[in-house]
Parts: sequence; C-alpha cells; structure tokens
Amino acid sequence: MKVLVIGGGGREHALCAAIRRSPRVSEVVCAPGNGGIAQVARCVKASQKDLGDLLRVVAEEQADLTVVGPELPLALGLVDEMLRRGLKVFGPTRDAAMLETSKGFAKRFMQRHSIPTANYAVCGSRTEALAALELFHHPVVIKADGLQAGKGVLICETKDEAERAVTGLFSGELLGTAETNVVVEEFLKGEELSFLALSDGKHATPLLPAQDHKRIGEGDTGPNTGGMGVYTADTLLDPKMSEWILHHIVQKAIDGMAAEETPFVGVLYCGLMMTAKGPMVLEFNARFGDPETQAILPRLESDLVEALEACVQGRLSETEFRWKPGASACVVAASQGYPGSYTVGYPITGLDDAAKVPAVEVFHAGTTWDGATYRTAGGRVLGVTATGATLGEALGSAYPAMERISFEGMVYRRDIGRRTRV
Ligand SMILES: Nc1ncnc2c1ncn2[C@@H]1O[C@H](COP(=O)(O)OP(=O)(O)OP(=O)(O)O)[C@@H](O)[C@H]1O
Ligand SMILES: [Mg+2]
Repeated sequence: MKVLVIGGGGREHALCAAIRRSPRVSEVVCAPGNGGIAQVARCVKASQKDLGDLLRVVAEEQADLTVVGPELPLALGLVDEMLRRGLKVFGPTRDAAMLETSKGFAKRFMQRHSIPTANYAVCGSRTEALAALELFHHPVVIKADGLQAGKGVLICETKDEAERAVTGLFSGELLGTAETNVVVEEFLKGEELSFLALSDGKHATPLLPAQDHKRIGEGDTGPNTGGMGVYTADTLLDPKMSEWILHHIVQKAIDGMAAEETPFVGVLYCGLMMTAKGPMVLEFNARFGDPETQAILPRLESDLVEALEACVQGRLSETEFRWKPGASACVVAASQGYPGSYTVGYPITGLDDAAKVPAVEVFHAGTTWDGATYRTAGGRVLGVTATGATLGEALGSAYPAMERISFEGMVYRRDIGRRTRV
C-alpha cells in the first residue's frame, strides 16, 4: 500500500521511518518532507498552510492512507475534506481538533467531563480578564486561545506582568494578531509528562509516556522552544498511574468527544502536570508530539501502519502493540539564536558517522539536501535518537553520536534525561 505523510519536521521523519518498516507498505510519500526525509520517502512540494494545495497533493497521490503530522492542516479542515471525498486519513476533523486549536474550548470541555485540570477563566475581553485576575494567586498563567506555535503561553510572576500580558494579547501587540479570547489559569507545580494515545473515536491505546524538555537552556532555563530533547523509559511512570491516566483522562476525553458528536480519531496528546493532587491536564494536542514521536516510535516493534489503519477503521481494540523494553532518548540540535532569529544554509558534517553508533537514528527536523550536502534549514535541525536497556544506556549512545555531527552555530542541551522521574 501507499502511505502519504503530511508535514516536514523531525516528527514526520520518525513517522515515515516507522511507516516504511511496515511489510504492507510499498511506497511512502511525504509532503513537503525535508532533506533527511528524502532518504526514506519520496518528497513532494506542498504548502502546509494552504488547504487547496494539500488537497491537490492528496488528489495527485491517491494514497491508500494519509497521516497528518502537524496541527495546522487539521485546523484548516484537511481531514473533513478528505473524509467527504471518501479517502482514508488518520487525524481528527476540524471540530475534534478543537481540543488543541482552542484552549478555551478544551478547558470548558474538561470541566463538562470532569477531567482534572487547573482552575481557569475564559475571558472574552480585556476588562473581563482583568477582573478575573483578581481571583488568582501568583504566579498566574495567561494563555492565548488559538494556535500560537508555543508562543501563546505566559507565566506571570506579578499582577503587573499579568495585566500587561492580558493587555498585549487583546491588543495584538504581543503576538501580532489580536486575541478574541484569553484563558487565565491557575499555576500548577510538578513534573511535566507527555501522555499520548491513539484513538479510533471510541477506544484508546496509550503510546509510551515521554518527558520533553521545552526550555532552550540547560537546567530548564531561558525561553520555551518546540522541544530540545525528550526521553522515554519503562521506569518513567508507574503502571498503576498509567492506568489511572488512561481511565480518568484519556478515555473520558474520548468518550466526551463521542458524546458531543465530534468523535476523536487520531493521536490525543495529553500534556500533563504531575501535581501533589494527581495528574492534571495542562493542554491537549490533536497530533503526534514533536520531539516525543522521535523517541517513542523507535521503540515500537509492532506495525505502526496496522495501528493507524485500525484507528481509521474503528477497530483499534483488536490491535496489539509491542514495545522494545527499556528506554530511548532524543537530543535536539538547534541553530544558534533559536527560538529567536537564526541563520540557515550551513553545511552539516558527520551524519553518516553518527548513524554508525549502534542503536542510533538521526531524524532531520530542518535540513535540505542538494544531492551532495545536507544544510541547515530551520531552528531545530536534527534529533539524535538512541534506544537502550536503560535511559543511561540510551543517553550513552545519543550523546557520542551527537558529538560526531557538526554545523556552524550548533546548539544542544547536555542534560536531557537528567531530571528526576515523575
Ligand atoms: N497551568 C499551568 N501551570 C504551570 N505551567 C503551565 C501551565 N500551563 C502551561 N504551563 C507551562 O507552559 C507550557 C506551554 O503550555 P501549553 O502546553 O498549554 O502551550 P502550547 O503552546 O499549546 O504548547 P505546545 O506547543 O507544546 O502545544 C507547558 O508545557 C508548561 O510548561
Ligand atoms: Mg498545544
């Protein structure tokens, strides 16, 4: 069968690599892909921001299954259009993706279905938000309602800071576009955990839990990024806690979406805070995590395509998942300046040598290939992933592999996986 993957980052490289391992797959196409993805899939030009262009690719390729990586095509309604045309696609409809695309919707949904989350107020004006602020302690969290590529969340230490955040979001000064809704939220303390589950709209099957490192700097300092590294480990989460999360958070969300007639088919990504009072949802995403996917999929031994197809066909409960025991780690190499401005186009050396380290796979997040040289093409450039019997072993392969790679201005964190377990 032929599988089309939409997207062009590290997540999509890991997806394409796992899809290609399926004995049922004869061809993998990725739109638009990147320099590294071109090794495992045929890359075709496409604009992820343009629904018409994506539908053109879908019509041209006639794939047996399409897998949507990023959130933007979901928000544009790509899945809705494909379903209308009778095409098989893995990912939620626009309405189901609102769990990610509107933080206000997600908070109210969690309240309706008794899913544990921080106290909050959804505010439709600056005046309303300023009044709501009076009810919260500091620090307080202020969130733009819509998709903001990780830039729409502000943790404010003082009342003054919070008022400025609210004013800046509503005026448009802060993000460039004026928000119509802002969420004011209680600040939660604890370790963060990414808990991803596949769903066919009715059933849910968890993937391996993972812990991301969002800050640019070692010791979790500096601004938030798309993710500078992530790990999975069998010791990360107690099986009883995992069951609790599956039952009280994931399944409740899937049941709630089905009851509201917007069944959720795809990956439900629960960003959790493991608080003293138990796990609480910080956010939902409606897609595979990036870089979580790069650490999770190398440990999947069963057939990913079989699982994705089972979701689309509503028979996930019959599907078996097998995982390589142990751990995995993905360390991200970024361009100097990221998450601010950075320069691209630098040649990358040492990729072949890095891939020779046993148990290592290098996923490309932002690269180009001109037939002779890989060059940097994004803020996050590469994700060096390794599996191992323990987290220490995985890190002990990922870091030496990373040291073999070099490009001008290469930045990576040396402390991935060093946090305490949740
Ligand atoms: N209530 C909260 N208490 C403490 N920290 C929070 C809270 N809400 C969010 N955060 C912090 O802000 C980060 C980003 O928040 P959130 O996940 O809601 O934003 P996002 O922009 O949707 O992120 P992503 O790009 O991962 O989808 C979280 O990972 C967490 O570190
Ligand atoms: Mg999000």
